[in-house]
Amino acid sequence: MKVHVADHPLISHKLTVLRDKQTNSPTFRQLVEELVTLLAYEATREVHTRSVEIETPVTAMLGTKLTDPKPVVVPILRAGLGMLEGMVRLIPTAEVGFLGMVRDEKTLKASTYANRLPEDLSGRQCFILDPMLATGGTLIMAIEYLIARGATDITAICILSAPEGIAALEKAFAHVDVPIRLVTGALDQKLNEHGYIVPGLGDAGDRLYGVV
Ligand code: URA
Repeated sequence: MKVHVADHPLISHKLTVLRDKQTNSPTFRQLVEELVTLLAYEATREVHTRSVEIETPVTAMLGTKLTDPKPVVVPILRAGLGMLEGMVRLIPTAEVGFLGMVRDEKTLKASTYANRLPEDLSGRQCFILDPMLATGGTLIMAIEYLIARGATDITAICILSAPEGIAALEKAFAHVDVPIRLVTGALDQKLNEHGYIVPGLGDAGDRLYGVV
């Protein structure tokens, strides 16, 4: 698995405001969208393209366009929904599938409660949106879903990641041929005893949408 930790002063600045517990929900939502657009720029570096002939007002030239079928973007509900706008702003023609997953706060085990994905993902590039890579349980399950449906290229975009989550992903997919990439805004120190990322930003879903 390839891991890319974005290293850009704008990302560090936005992340600092995002982490601050004084930051309110509207600002938090806005910052998540902006951060995803910046991370998506890196995450789509290997997006599939083809050459096309076009004519500019001056001359003919060979340009580049995204290939069909277009990539599939999969936000993990609930918190991943806050990342969707920022992603489709960069790839407006992407298809969007949804996975609803929740982790049990005691056992930290993930389970799926909703699934709306194309049946056949053969040959598709997939981008999973999940803000917090903590234990890795949710992301591992999501990646397994996509591989089972034939996805051949998977990139996860996470705002923050914990070393434990990255290690779990690396172990889970060590012998899988499908290329898997992780693009993250920062690699934090660790998980605490409640499975929260430290220093982290708290519960991403609650900070985006309130405690419901
Ligand atoms: N999920 C969150 O929202 N925050 C964490 O710190 C870990 C998992």
